[in-house]
This record gives sequence, structure tokens and C-alpha cells, in this order.
Amino acid sequence: MNAQNTVFGGMIMAKCDRLALVVAERHSSHVCVTVAVDSIHFRAPAKGNDTLLFNLSLNRSWGSSMEIGARVTAENSYTGDVRHIFSAYFTFVALDENGKPVKVPAVSTDNDTQKRRYEDAQIRRDSRLAMREQLADHNRNRHD
Ligand SMILES: CC(C)(COP(=O)(O)OP(=O)(O)OC[C@H]1O[C@@H](n2cnc3c(N)ncnc32)[C@H](O)[C@@H]1OP(=O)(O)O)[C@@H](O)C(=O)NCCC(=O)NCCS
Repeated sequence: MNAQNTVFGGMIMAKCDRLALVVAERHSSHVCVTVAVDSIHFRAPAKGNDTLLFNLSLNRSWGSSMEIGARVTAENSYTGDVRHIFSAYFTFVALDENGKPVKVPAVSTDNDTQKRRYEDAQIRRDSRLAMREQLADHNRNRHD
């Protein structure tokens, strides 16, 4: 809990990271590490009498990396009221026994939701890698 008597956001992030790791390692059958977390959105607070429900989705894989979406809802234990409180995207990289990135299996899409997540994941990946490249360029060109 934090000073507002609501659930500490860092705890939610850490739990999502841990659950997403399980998803990544089950898909790849390799040790995985988190390489990036983005689009973190704390949408609403969770209180002491809420039950938190964690939903993880493996959205897409590329070479050695995978995007896993996390969505957390809070359910009031007495009224049954459900609120969407948190979402984020975790990128994991699978590593071989030498700690080098290793290729992972493709993700199959069986329904419209999975297809949408799969397609959206490519847009987010392009944006992540473009920003990384842009910042690298910017810092290469600095004269300080
Ligand atoms: C993960 C790690 C081994 C990757 O090393 P690297 O030199 O960046 O390797 P590469 O450039 O080959 O990138 C590997 C993959 O990560 C992806 N990647 C790297 N940085 C990324 C970023 N900021 N966002 C999204 N993807 C990224 C690359 O696109 C590549 O994916 P692909 O194989 O699917 O195309 C290295 O960054 C690392 O050890 N990071 C620390 C991990 C860690 O300690 N996490 C916290 C505890 S789990």
C-alpha cells in the first residue's frame, strides 16, 4: 500500500514482469530477460478490498524477442465491480546457454483478438526500435 492507502504501482509492475517472464520462457523454452517495458498506464487505483486479476497475452515474436501484453483489473470483493487499473507491454529476449539472443518460435493467431494484437505489436515494435535508433543518432551527433 502507499500513502493514499491504494496498491503500490511498483508491486503491480513487478508481478506483471514475473508473470510475463513465465509466458516468455514457456513459449521459447529458453531463459528470458526483460529488455524493454513501455506504454505503462496506471488507469485507476486499487484498494485494499480489491482482488487483482492479472491477464497476460503473448502478442508476437520476431527473431529472439517477444512482446507480452499485461492487463490488470481490480474486482471489489463485495460488490463485484470490476475496473481496468493497469496495462503495459513487456519485451523479452530469449537467451542461449552463452547468454546470446536465440531464435524463438512464431506466435500463431487463432481469432480476431489475437490477430489484432499481433498486428498492433508490429507497430509498437517499429516505434520502440525507431526511438532507440533516433536517440543513438542524437547522442552520436552531440558536441558536448
Ligand atoms: C537482452 C540483451 C541480451 C540483448 O542484447 P542486445 O545486444 O541488445 O542484442 P540485440 O541487439 O541482438 O537484440 C536482441 C533482441 O532484442 C530486441 N531489442 C533490443 N532492445 C530493444 C528495445 N529497446 N525494445 C525492443 N526490443 C529490443 C532486438 O530488436 C532483438 O530482437 P529480435 O531478435 O527479435 O530482432 C541485452 O540487452 C541485455 O542483457 N539486457 C539486460 C537484460 C536484463 O538484465 N533485464 C533485467 C532483468 S531480467
